[in-house]
Amino acid sequence: MPQKHDIVILGGGMITEMQILPSIYHLQRLGLIDHISICALNSPPLQQLAKNTTLKKAFPGQSFTSFPDFDSVSPKENFPELYKKVIKDIPPRNIVAIALPDQLHFETVMYALEHDQHVLCVKPLALKNEHAIQIEKTAYERGLFVGIEYHKRFDDRVAIARQKYRAGHFGEFRLGMATLIEPWYYRDSNFQNWCTTENSDMFTYIGCHYVDQVHMITGLLPTQISVYGSVEDYPNGNQGYLWTNARIVWENGASLSVLNGMGYPNVGPGGNSQGIWLFTQGEKDGGILFHDDQYRGIKHSYLVKGTDPGESYYNEPSPDYFKLIDRGGQGLTPVGYGYRSIEGIVQAIDRVESTGQANLEQRQKVIKQIDAEGIIATPANSAFNELVIQAGRMSILSGGRDVVIEYGEKPQVRFKELSEYHQI
Ligand SMILES: NC(=O)c1ccc[n+]([C@@H]2O[C@H](COP(=O)([O-])OP(=O)(O)OC[C@H]3O[C@@H](n4cnc5c(N)ncnc54)[C@H](O)[C@@H]3O)[C@@H](O)[C@H]2O)c1
Repeated sequence: MPQKHDIVILGGGMITEMQILPSIYHLQRLGLIDHISICALNSPPLQQLAKNTTLKKAFPGQSFTSFPDFDSVSPKENFPELYKKVIKDIPPRNIVAIALPDQLHFETVMYALEHDQHVLCVKPLALKNEHAIQIEKTAYERGLFVGIEYHKRFDDRVAIARQKYRAGHFGEFRLGMATLIEPWYYRDSNFQNWCTTENSDMFTYIGCHYVDQVHMITGLLPTQISVYGSVEDYPNGNQGYLWTNARIVWENGASLSVLNGMGYPNVGPGGNSQGIWLFTQGEKDGGILFHDDQYRGIKHSYLVKGTDPGESYYNEPSPDYFKLIDRGGQGLTPVGYGYRSIEGIVQAIDRVESTGQANLEQRQKVIKQIDAEGIIATPANSAFNELVIQAGRMSILSGGRDVVIEYGEKPQVRFKELSEYHQI
């Protein structure tokens, strides 16, 4: 029997507004979530969430407790440590959802675990493999579940490809290309304050989705990475790697190019440009997997244009990521893999809690089962993602040098030595 869980969402930015909060509101409607709190650095994003007319229409009568309280503090005041008090105040073994800038994930996930909370964390879990290992160990010792929100794992086309690949219908992956170019207008947003050369880059920010997806489909692990990035100015003068070109070599010798950027035309018909193309081989013939993840078969041309950045008359909306639609009943219902991913992680937490409750061993057993299923990304089954990010950062900061990933007892990343290159 599912239980009701309280949830604290840390971060009130774009991903919370677009995907996490509406999904959580729906789970509250379904009886899986009880009380919702959201903690942000300051009050403006919280006020924006509370006033969001789409959310009000979709979830009438539902709301959240705001930390800080946006009615009583100055919009200019920051509360960087407030999340600690909010986490301390919820009863043990509820849920903390982390939707903060990447560089804050490790310390906040650890804080939540040390205060006995299950965790839903947006990708990437951490920026270093040793941090992911520390998270895995702490969570397991305490019988707490950590789910990393790689929502493309819940895109049905990925699940179909995984089944077909693992049944041998594609043969073996040899060569591939993936692209995910985010809109130009992201440059004007809060990205310019945190997605800067010293913290991140477009491959780290968004390329990881397709590296994760190739693993999800094929089960292969990445073993070598090189990332070239060109440094560009943001409108506020900060600098970022706004166009990146990564090459990932896999344990079977296959290679994948991943192109990322912040330059999808504002006037373009989609939310971004994205897709993957894999070439595979069997004994006597080759196979192909091609997913156009931006154009999903819908063409609309409207008579009125929205006022948000990136809105255009001609649109190719995706019905597959996240939409709020009328399914009858009160308000609107979230559909798509963005919703299913949040639901999947909350249900996994519920599986851990419902079996055995106070029994640590029982909870650990369920955590191991979910790790082994390989559907939800967990610290145990997706640690390669942290190694990829670590290797990718090392490479991009040194102009694109090859960085090798070594697995085993003590996984590590290191520059490839000249002597290791194959000489003809
Ligand atoms: N496709 C994806 O999986 C996807 C998409 C978008 C974002 N993300 C991830 O989600 C995270 C957040 O991205 P976003 O676009 O929502 O960012 P954002 O900049 O819009 O929002 C960040 C939020 O964090 C809050 N914050 C910062 N420091 C804080 C602190 N000390 N305490 C409490 N709140 C604090 C800010 O107030 C803000 O509300 C990033 O890690 C990003 O990589 C993932």
